[in-house]
Amino acid sequence: MKLSLKFFAKAPGKIIITGEHFVVHGSLAVAAAIDKGALVEAEAFEDIEIVSKALGSFSSKKGEVPLSLKPTLEAIRATLEFIGEKKGVKVIIDSDLPVSSGLGSSSAVAVATVTATSSALNHELSPEEIVNLAMISERITHGKPSGIDVNVAVYGGVILFKMGEKPKQIELNKDVEFLVCHSGIERRTSEMISKFSKMKKSYPNLFTSLVSSSSYFTEMAASALVNKDLTTLGYIMNFFHAVLSNLGMSTKELDHIVEKTLESGCIGAKLTGAGGGGCIIALPKSGEARIVAELLKRKGIDASIVKLPLEGVKVWREKI
Ligand code: PMV
Repeated sequence: MKLSLKFFAKAPGKIIITGEHFVVHGSLAVAAAIDKGALVEAEAFEDIEIVSKALGSFSSKKGEVPLSLKPTLEAIRATLEFIGEKKGVKVIIDSDLPVSSGLGSSSAVAVATVTATSSALNHELSPEEIVNLAMISERITHGKPSGIDVNVAVYGGVILFKMGEKPKQIELNKDVEFLVCHSGIERRTSEMISKFSKMKKSYPNLFTSLVSSSSYFTEMAASALVNKDLTTLGYIMNFFHAVLSNLGMSTKELDHIVEKTLESGCIGAKLTGAGGGGCIIALPKSGEARIVAELLKRKGIDASIVKLPLEGVKVWREKI
């Protein structure tokens, strides 16, 4: 029996704790890796072949790439070119992240694909190289993303991020638990980014000032995370939700879930990611995550618990 060598890469999804949207305009933002993500299996192959339950299939022998796989295909082509490889690769993509929901599904897929592809062809990329190659895929999907999702998928943990800079790890002294609640509504990040950016034209001075405020509150949130000062962190989250909601990034459903999490005893809650649907995050008091999740379930809201910090992309090989 012939054994084949397969490479696996797993990259996490993310939550944005503060600074989404403002980060695209230069603000600091805090994001954290979560325990859901994308798993990509890769092996050296004569052509390029992509198989994904959620996104469809593609073979370079048969032509036409479906729109849903174009970002992945371009990331693979860029990776092969970067490592100077003439061979192809076969990748199988699996993910337990809901798509178009603000949990960084496309970034997790891009990061895991680039990492598994290079490893299958015996090439180890640096974290910066993985970020740059995965961003090729992200720009096709989202237009002009800040790169926060890709960075958190690569580095993991809890990061303090500024566009164009290497992220800083926020070292937590103790675990912090968040709740993630999904509204069940999908939306396009690129549309939300351009809707948000419209304010810049109408009120440029207020907009610039808000970007600075976002950085200021984000730095406070980062210190609050280090010190496990949940009260300060929760208040900052509520403030961000109110501002983002006022700027048209929330929906009735997201506002409703935020309200219910606070009613159930959380200190803070806000939309996470681009908004317009997708998910919210909520911060329960220390040790109360399970009780609050149970209370929310009785109110018809599904909440999963995320315990931070969690690791970034991992790669391993198996003889199959
Ligand atoms: O689509 P999401 O939810 O992962 O949004 C990413 C966060 C934004 O700040 C809205 C966009 C960006 O690129 O930073």
